[in-house]
Amino acid sequence: MRVLSLSGSHVKKGNTGLLIGYLNEQIEEAAIEDLKMKSVSLAGAKIGPCKGCRKCMEAGYCVVKDDFNSIARKMLKSDLIIIGSPVYFQDVSGRVKNFIDRTYSLWHDRQLKGKKVIPVAVSAVSGEDRALETIRIWAQAHEMKIIRSVHGHGYKRGEVLRDQEAKDDVITVVHDLVGELKSEH
Ligand SMILES: Cc1cc2nc3c(=O)[nH]c(=O)nc-3n(C[C@H](O)[C@H](O)[C@H](O)COP(=O)(O)O)c2cc1C
Repeated sequence: MRVLSLSGSHVKKGNTGLLIGYLNEQIEEAAIEDLKMKSVSLAGAKIGPCKGCRKCMEAGYCVVKDDFNSIARKMLKSDLIIIGSPVYFQDVSGRVKNFIDRTYSLWHDRQLKGKKVIPVAVSAVSGEDRALETIRIWAQAHEMKIIRSVHGHGYKRGEVLRDQEAKDDVITVVHDLVGELKSEH
């Protein structure tokens, strides 16, 4: 199984990246066959907003020239996409919203259909429900398969790793993922 993790935090070693990192560690320990893991920081990529030009409807890819298409190719090669965002004003960060809007180019002919998704959100206090809903609605529009969402709490860098509920959530999601993979065989 090829796993692609996308972190939408602007903060290096921030809570979103740390929670995704913990999830990746648990997936690695789950004895999944032919596991290949890749991580991409959306903060390290240049991804502008969707311009609404709709040229992707004909082209089948996004015509805007920046780093989006190389990440799109990585998504197309993966079986499981982990996409995480810090909560900004009760929703996903602008970086994540830009990214998901740009996947319009993959939506017309459902190029992401059937891929598994684990949405991840980290807030200081609240807003993770709405942020996760934004990611879930995106995944549903693409006809992807949502395994289960993970959320954590933390304000300062690193605090999310002290959130035991978040860690328990990660264990549950990995359990569900393994169950899903078994049911496919
Ligand atoms: C612009 C901005 C808006 C934020 N809005 C919220 C919010 O609505 N609710 C909340 O609980 N935390 C909010 N936070 C706190 C972050 O969600 C929290 O610190 C999170 O752990 C940051 O993740 P990161 O370290 O991966 O960037 C906000 C932080 C910033 C910078």
